[in-house]
Amino acid sequence: MNDILIIYYSRTGKTRMVAEKLAGLLGADIEEIREEKSRAGRLAWFVGIKDSLLDKPAEITSEHSVGSRKVLVIGMPVWASSPPPAVRTFIQTCDLAGKTVYAFCTHDGGGGKGAFAKTAELVGGELASTLALKKPKPDDPELDEKLRQWADEIKTACE
Ligand SMILES: Cc1cc2nc3c(=O)[nH]c(=O)nc-3n(C[C@H](O)[C@H](O)[C@H](O)COP(=O)(O)O)c2cc1C
Repeated sequence: MNDILIIYYSRTGKTRMVAEKLAGLLGADIEEIREEKSRAGRLAWFVGIKDSLLDKPAEITSEHSVGSRKVLVIGMPVWASSPPPAVRTFIQTCDLAGKTVYAFCTHDGGGGKGAFAKTAELVGGELASTLALKKPKPDDPELDEKLRQWADEIKTACE
């Protein structure tokens, strides 16, 4: 089992695309957090913001192999300046004691500060490093360069 696990939630695929690129760069395992609730449709933004602001727990339907991993890289879209409910519930139901936790987010311009602060609070300690990506596009060389640099930072810290 790989020491590094990338674990992510994605509603519309941007965070997934970034997570997959990072997994390739790090040679890490990758798992998607899935939830029972559908987040499709016209009201998805409204409901998502409401659920985030109310700290609503999510019903997670996916299974995860966090177990003996040393390093966790958590990926999320920013929802109302916070981690989405599925990410929050994942962290709350997971034993992260002794693990090094990194986090990245994708967003539309609001930045990752709030989401990372809340993630650190849930993790119960500082995040080793964070990366916030605005509207990432799969064929953007700048995105690839940012991810390469961040992956190198993680790899160096893991040596
Ligand atoms: C419910 C909801 C709330 C959001 N809140 C924010 C926000 O506070 N700030 C921001 O910059 N983007 C916000 N966004 C935009 C997403 O963070 C952004 O589009 C993200 O890259 C989507 O990632 P995904 O394709 O992996 O789901 C929000 C999107 C949704 C659906």
